[in-house]
Amino acid sequence: MDNLRNDSFSENGPEQKDRRKLLVTGLGLAATSLLTPGSASAQTRPAGQSATAQQGTKQGRRKLGTLEVSALGFGCMNVAGMYNRPIDKQDAIRLIRAAYDRGVTLFDTAEVYGPFLGEELVGEALAPVRSRVVIASKFGFNVDLKTGAVGPGHNSRPEHIKRATEGSLRRLKTDYIDLHYQHRVDPSVPIEDVAGAVQDLIREGKVRHFGLSAAGGATIRRAHKVQQVTAVQNEYSIWTRDPELEVLQACEELGVGFVAWSPLGMGYLTGTVTPRTLLGPEDLRASMTRFTPEARRANWQIVELLQRVANRKQATPGQVALAWLLARKPWIVPIPGTTTRKHMEQNMDALALPLSTPEVKEINDGFARIRVQGARLNAELLAGIDIGAKLGTSSKGGQGMSPLP
Ligand SMILES: NC(=O)c1ccc[n+]([C@@H]2O[C@H](COP(=O)([O-])OP(=O)(O)OC[C@H]3O[C@@H](n4cnc5c(N)ncnc54)[C@H](OP(=O)(O)O)[C@@H]3O)[C@@H](O)[C@H]2O)c1
Repeated sequence: MDNLRNDSFSENGPEQKDRRKLLVTGLGLAATSLLTPGSASAQTRPAGQSATAQQGTKQGRRKLGTLEVSALGFGCMNVAGMYNRPIDKQDAIRLIRAAYDRGVTLFDTAEVYGPFLGEELVGEALAPVRSRVVIASKFGFNVDLKTGAVGPGHNSRPEHIKRATEGSLRRLKTDYIDLHYQHRVDPSVPIEDVAGAVQDLIREGKVRHFGLSAAGGATIRRAHKVQQVTAVQNEYSIWTRDPELEVLQACEELGVGFVAWSPLGMGYLTGTVTPRTLLGPEDLRASMTRFTPEARRANWQIVELLQRVANRKQATPGQVALAWLLARKPWIVPIPGTTTRKHMEQNMDALALPLSTPEVKEINDGFARIRVQGARLNAELLAGIDIGAKLGTSSKGGQGMSPLP
């Protein structure tokens, strides 16, 4: 990343002051955390201590198909609100730029985050370094292109994809999207038509790579026949193993990269969402059965398992959760999301904490003895996930959720 330092956002001035301020408030937060002393020391590790180990080395990069990105991306959903209210615009821009300065080159957003707000923030934050970053966005929820109102169901009709992409390009302040995903498989549009529409956009230079989100093996294979799929983005973490059913195998066979969404279990795996944490009405997690206080209590053994490994590495459970994903396959890229600089720095530090084979085994063996309580999404969101991308509904031998042409 040496070349990136030339246009660092935080060479001097306000960013440095912010950094000092955040380190001070960060110490206060660490003192109130539930984590053990071993992990608290990792939380307060000076920001950037391990950055040199990653920046400028291939270790800090990964390939999604032919697209090279930082080994950890930055999820930009929550700056536009999802588990929280949207954060202040200038804070969001500073945070995204700090992630870039820290070596992140993959920034993940979507038309529906906000709606529109997520893309606007990403576009404004990254405009000065546009050519040096990979911007990933998504289309396919039923978003009114004028008002941003989100209707029920999905919309991946080819003409809608093309109009939606124009809006994304405008908000992202760019004339190309590096990686454009279909956000959800549309049960009323053949995936071949979706792949064809994105292919047209690629030919016009408006999109560079095609991605699928929440897709199962059959859909990935069908789409890939029409237009090379660069990356699949599905939920994957220690407690959400659905991609192991068939999606990872399909990706490996086809040379498609895998982007892990909610790699920190929507925050739970960091140990900071305890059974007593109050989830406000604006918090999407409150609608998920995994996040009832009872489920959070029952599932706490997973955090303890991660904490045991973390203690020995002077790390945090969240860092171990990210390191576990990074250890799965060299073409897996987790995209943790956060609204704070302290957490972003801590997540990036996970790159310097690789897990040994015995540590991975310890986590896998420990997890195999735990029965996770509660579904990973609410019923409405689960219904929108492709067959084969969720446990118990394998699309092996089937066509997936998308109708045949
Ligand atoms: N394709 C899709 O359908 C889809 C679905 C969901 C998400 N995504 C993408 O994946 C990204 C990440 O997913 P996600 O936000 O659902 O889940 P996540 O990254 O697993 O967890 C995010 C939560 O963890 C907390 N957190 C982050 N780092 C932390 C740390 N070091 N210590 C303690 N808490 C920490 C955050 O709170 P703080 O803000 O307080 O740090 C936030 O509440 C999103 O931003 C989005 O880009 C895609």
